[in-house]
Amino acid sequence: MARNADRIRAVKGTRDILPPESRLWLKVEEICRDILDAYGFQEIRTPIFEETELFARSVGTNTDIVSKEMYSFEDRDGRSLTLRPEATASVMRAYLDSGAVNQGGVKKYYYSGPMFRRERPQKGRFRQFYQIGAEVLGSDHPTVDVEVLEMLDLLLERLSLTDCVLLLNSVGCSTCRPAYVEALQSSLESVASKMCADCRRRTSTNPLRVLDCKVPADQPIIEGLPKILDYLCSECSGHFRAVTSGLDRRKIRYTITPRLVRGLDYYTRTTFEITHSGLGSQNALLGGGRYDGLSELIGGPPVKGLGFAIGEDRFLMAVERSGALASSAGPEVFVAWMGEEAREAALGAARQLRREGIRTEIVFDPVNFKKSLALANKMGARWTLIVGDDEVKRGLFQIKDMQTGQQEELPAGRLMEEMRARRNKSAPV
Ligand code: HAM
Repeated sequence: MARNADRIRAVKGTRDILPPESRLWLKVEEICRDILDAYGFQEIRTPIFEETELFARSVGTNTDIVSKEMYSFEDRDGRSLTLRPEATASVMRAYLDSGAVNQGGVKKYYYSGPMFRRERPQKGRFRQFYQIGAEVLGSDHPTVDVEVLEMLDLLLERLSLTDCVLLLNSVGCSTCRPAYVEALQSSLESVASKMCADCRRRTSTNPLRVLDCKVPADQPIIEGLPKILDYLCSECSGHFRAVTSGLDRRKIRYTITPRLVRGLDYYTRTTFEITHSGLGSQNALLGGGRYDGLSELIGGPPVKGLGFAIGEDRFLMAVERSGALASSAGPEVFVAWMGEEAREAALGAARQLRREGIRTEIVFDPVNFKKSLALANKMGARWTLIVGDDEVKRGLFQIKDMQTGQQEELPAGRLMEEMRARRNKSAPV
């Protein structure tokens, strides 16, 4: 087909989520919300844009996100604003702004919505993508880390997502990390000349980021670099041991991955990612960790925190592959009618069914039954309710089971009762 140069299309790296896919998104979100609710998380909604400084100070000016991926713009009053590339910093800001920080105790928030990063688009990577995330603020107890990972384990189980691996690490704290970064930097100085241009640059700007490098030739060199777990202070190594033994007791499997330092600077201690082997190179389904120093980075008092964000786009790809939530988006009942009197009976039946929450479609203009049945089939209807003038006279409907082809008569007065019974017997649609 000729491409009309004048027609405006979606911006590169963005996309529309249309039915029936949008239905699956809703289902996955519902399952996530139910589990988050069971674990005591409550929803928080923060603005889509924030002061640029919020992300610069929390995510870190030398990270890829801040240095080259943010959608920042100058507002009319000259202030620099940014479309949020992530939401943890916003949640912490809201916690401080609202005064919730002064209430003491632990607060558990969750959020969902679009994030924006100007990355190179590819499978599983978009410039507008969606996250469902959660944050626990006000405690550094290792049980928080374990409970959050336990909740994620349950979520994967509910969605039948196998082929997932939990990668776990500790990145230490402001006491022990500087010594590690120094050791890393001095090791890098002797090997950087053999590495890619990004690694050479990062050796001086942000040596921890070298550990994220995916260039195949650099991998053996990176494997030989010092490991952060050997540099943890006694508090951090005690915390990490408590987290791993909590996971062991719950029989949650994990792989300790010393290279997992994550792409955001605010992390302290526990960091984690869950990868899925069916997703190709963008295989991180979700990522998170502890950020006990984040509040201070944005001018707040010390606040302990831990959280994660699921990349919903990738999550949906994995759910689709698993097939566990495959669902028909078609109507449960298609109402076919012919004749003026039948039309009124059909509209009445459709109204009743819809009030009951039964997904119902009805044709607006008269068409013959053959055409109606063909349409019902095309739409994937579970049943077709048929009413002509003869049925109106006899006070009944015909109901056709579109899976078995069986057709039966239904007294009009028993329509809802019969439909409820059929629906209960049939597999969820
Ligand atoms: P993140 O690792 O940058 O962490 O993002 C979390 C997840 O979002 C990733 O694992 C991935 O699934 C998804 N994601 C990231 N970028 C893209 C993209 N361009 N296209 C599609 N999906 C993407 C954070 O954002 C932290 N705020 C997580 C967190 C919460 N840490 C503590 N609390």
